[in-house]
Amino acid sequence: MAKINQSLGEFIIENQSEFKYSSGELSRLINSIRLAAKVVNHKVNKAGLVDILGTAGNHNVQGEDQQKLDVFANEVFINTLTNREIVCGIASEEEDDFITIKGRNQKNDNKYVVLMDPLDGSSNIDVNVSVGTIFSIFRRITPSGTPVTIDDFLQPGINQVAAGYIVYGTSTMIVYTTGHGVNGFTLNPAIGTYYLSHPNMKFPEDGHIYSVNEGNYVHFPQGVKDYIKYCQKEEDDRPYTSRYIGSLVSDFHRNMIKGGIYIYPNTSKDPNGKLRLLYECNPMAMIAEQAGGKASNGFEDILNIKPTSLHQRVPFFCGSTKMVEKAEEFMKKSQ
Ligand code: AHG
Ligand code: MN
Ligand code: MN
Ligand code: MN
Repeated sequence: MAKINQSLGEFIIENQSEFKYSSGELSRLINSIRLAAKVVNHKVNKAGLVDILGTAGNHNVQGEDQQKLDVFANEVFINTLTNREIVCGIASEEEDDFITIKGRNQKNDNKYVVLMDPLDGSSNIDVNVSVGTIFSIFRRITPSGTPVTIDDFLQPGINQVAAGYIVYGTSTMIVYTTGHGVNGFTLNPAIGTYYLSHPNMKFPEDGHIYSVNEGNYVHFPQGVKDYIKYCQKEEDDRPYTSRYIGSLVSDFHRNMIKGGIYIYPNTSKDPNGKLRLLYECNPMAMIAEQAGGKASNGFEDILNIKPTSLHQRVPFFCGSTKMVEKAEEFMKKSQ
């Protein structure tokens, strides 16, 4: 039972028995993410005062300019996760390939793989707009005692045992699920503790906000163009409000609280869209579904997609169930 004023540490211990595999390792893993998030939060809050703004001067495997904070957050999360005997592999938006962690005595007997977007919304860092971190956790499927392989990372999202995000916003929050609903914790920076502030979060079934980069309108598929026109039409409870921050984490977080839909479709320039299935869409889809929302690629549920490569991109429609279903209807009609 959720208690306000309960700290994240207390919550993890109290709810440990709900985990499908309750050996305590998943709790320790969430704990280490909580710790890394505090370190990144500290740096994000000082951006502008310390030398953390701007580009790092290199490109990542996605073809993007790496920001200094992308590199910093990537290192902090990888180091924090590696130093604990829980994770056997990590894949990150900022790494070309997955990282193998042999663990204690080089035994390769740790159970979990973590996939992450260490810093989401990095184009917003320099302008003091909210950014985030996204993580996705699976149990490995290859036998314990052997090094992880690509197959451990290319599991469909439905296999996730936990997923979450951190939003470094007006306040810093961790929102996560282990498959038993979604809970949100807000950091009290004075004492460095996260408290349960948003117990049992629920996506409103319907909403009035649509979030899409309309600058790309001419490149959108006809179904998305038609859905946007539908959102803008003066009829029933429409037109809807348009809100787009350009940080998936922040756009998703707002829509989960207020009711809305986030769309990053395929475009004529990017036939698979922009967002990454493993680091962004799968974890957000698990959180959305656990909160009663929906996530699809316009035609099928994100969590059912069997990934074929680490940095795979996918069109993303995510949010209030009725809104996502409506958008899917327009996609189908225009086929
Ligand atoms: P990242 O900063 O991790 O590369 O992710 C950026 C993503 C996502 O956060 C955001 O919603 C989207 O890219 C914005 O893309 P556009 O600028 O093309 O709208
Ligand atoms: Mn990026
Ligand atoms: Mn991202
Ligand atoms: Mn990123």
